[in-house]
Amino acid sequence: MTKAEFVVVANRLPVDRVVDAEGNESWRTSPGGLVTALEPVMRTEHGAWVGWPGQADLEHDPFDHDGTRLIPVTLSAEDVELYYEGMSNDTFWPLYHDVIAAPRYRRVWWDAYVRVNERFAQAAAKAAAKGATVWVQDYQLQLVPRMLREARPDLTIGYFHHIPFPAYGLYSQLPWRRQVLEGLLGADVIGFQRVADAGNFARAVRRLFRYETRATGIRVPEADGSTRVAVAKAFPISIDAASYVEMAGRPEIQARASEIRESLGNPKRILLGVDRLDYTKGIRHRLKAFGELIADGRIDVEDVTLVQVASPSRERVQAYIELRDEIELMVTRINGDHDTLGHSAIRYLHQGFPREEMVALYLAADVMLVTALRDGMNLVAKEYVATRIDNRGTLVLSEFAGASDELGTALRVNPHDIDALKDTIMRAIEMPPAEQGRRMRAMRRKVLDNDVAAWSHSFLDALAAASHAGEANR
Ligand code: G6P
Repeated sequence: MTKAEFVVVANRLPVDRVVDAEGNESWRTSPGGLVTALEPVMRTEHGAWVGWPGQADLEHDPFDHDGTRLIPVTLSAEDVELYYEGMSNDTFWPLYHDVIAAPRYRRVWWDAYVRVNERFAQAAAKAAAKGATVWVQDYQLQLVPRMLREARPDLTIGYFHHIPFPAYGLYSQLPWRRQVLEGLLGADVIGFQRVADAGNFARAVRRLFRYETRATGIRVPEADGSTRVAVAKAFPISIDAASYVEMAGRPEIQARASEIRESLGNPKRILLGVDRLDYTKGIRHRLKAFGELIADGRIDVEDVTLVQVASPSRERVQAYIELRDEIELMVTRINGDHDTLGHSAIRYLHQGFPREEMVALYLAADVMLVTALRDGMNLVAKEYVATRIDNRGTLVLSEFAGASDELGTALRVNPHDIDALKDTIMRAIEMPPAEQGRRMRAMRRKVLDNDVAAWSHSFLDALAAASHAGEANR
């Protein structure tokens, strides 16, 4: 088997397995921006992608899909429970999102996390050609950079952290705080969403290891007594903006947007929320503010409808089970109290939709509500902006989402402050078209000029530079 010059390692493969009625298996590319961004690099560099196919106990040989070699890593039902649902999504996820939900620290989960990270590292080590570049993705695989460096010192290793990195006062709760930093410091470049995340990481390294940090460089001692410089820096991720612009211009998608407005009874204003059903997204705060605005008489359900898409996520993790109950109770109460026979206050959809349908929804919505309590970036905010080709529409954006660093002309809000959130929603509903245009134009420029291809280039350029610097030091 030919070895790859470029290897991506992520918890998930970039494809979903579909089995038809006859039991025939096929693989469909999943819609993420990362896949699109890396496609050209994958093709020219004979790329390989190491990841979990998304189902427990599925064993599958490596296969080629759209010019990329896909290398499935098998997770047993127990691995899924301990490594994925447990350590990744009941420990790291809540801890790194500022303990909005309480993280649980369980030693059996950690042991599974180490074991599964080892399996991903081995698969990547096996797939990579001599001197290849390996790019590890996200919090599920924080130990992989160090494991890879030990197995294959010839590789150039990058890591990108898609979620926040918390302040030391929270990070220090983690019983394995040293091992995780050691794992990450195995990379030549450690990328974060925000400057603040990179700063939190560098501070944790200084507090726990006393390593010297200068600008974005961290001097890391190696076992042989030498030192190397790892770079920890912000690379804000983005979307495949051109594809959203293209979809937004398609007549059939625009027709679908009108159809959606029609089916909601042509309200004067449509507000939209689009999230994975996750406690980090501030869905409860958004519903509370909206419900109060109706109760206060500032919003009339005949005029304004909130569409909330909450796609199912991590449905076996307790915090997610509880959140779903809370949200569905809130939606039912608000609708029960305020619906008329012809109009619903909230149209709640616990479903995922194809990209085209999402674009039609973005086009139909006058106001987009992104009220995350903590979010690495929030790509929904960028998708909404990219689709608004007529420069109309208003984005209400939490200052706790990474996107708020770049989208300075959004209506930024602290979602914990329900009164401020209510006033901001009203301001968005009432915003004159000229002001909408001025704000939207500035945001669109930002998103179109900084798409996901630019993001991956800037990361990979920094990685190439770091690897050359490393060679010069050797
Ligand atoms: C976030 C994480 C990703 C993750 C995604 C979906 O965006 O940063 O790593 O893949 O959520 O979550 P899931 O648990 O379904 O992979």
